[in-house]
Amino acid sequence: MKQTVRVTVNGRLYEEEVEPRQLLSYFLRETIGLTGTHIGCIIGECGACTVQVNGTLVKSCLMFAVQANGKEITTIEGLAEGDTLHPVQEAFINNYGFQCGYCTPGMIMAADSLLKKNPYPSEEEIREGLAGNLCMCTGYVQIVAAVKEAAGQVDDG
Ligand code: FES
Ligand code: FES
Repeated sequence: MKQTVRVTVNGRLYEEEVEPRQLLSYFLRETIGLTGTHIGCIIGECGACTVQVNGTLVKSCLMFAVQANGKEITTIEGLAEGDTLHPVQEAFINNYGFQCGYCTPGMIMAADSLLKKNPYPSEEEIREGLAGNLCMCTGYVQIVAAVKEAAGQVDDG
């Protein structure tokens, strides 16, 4: 039997009927059409599906949509303000922090979360902060450089 889920995603309220077993990642992509959140492994290993739920980093393949009921979710689509990219997005472009781009939305959500908690992380702290996000392409060097460039520019409000 379907259940009602009421969530705020990127500031907009959604109310949808979903199967209780629907993963949050599929809810975001297929039910409300926000395909910026990627799905890779579906077992919590790759981090491609990373979003923020009530300000906490969550792998959306490890959460049912019904568990997000009443919560506030931020996805990659919620970071830019109009035509102005989020500082982490800008820094990823400046530093070639992506190649195929599959990991990028999750990486950026994780980097944003890290910089809100620790505006000036060391390289070790950046690598620790992104340890839940895997990249098959870049070797991580440009990703770390991007996060360093964005240091101090992320608003924690
Ligand atoms: S798809 Fe969620 S961690 Fe890989
Ligand atoms: S840019 Fe291809 S997986 Fe990271």
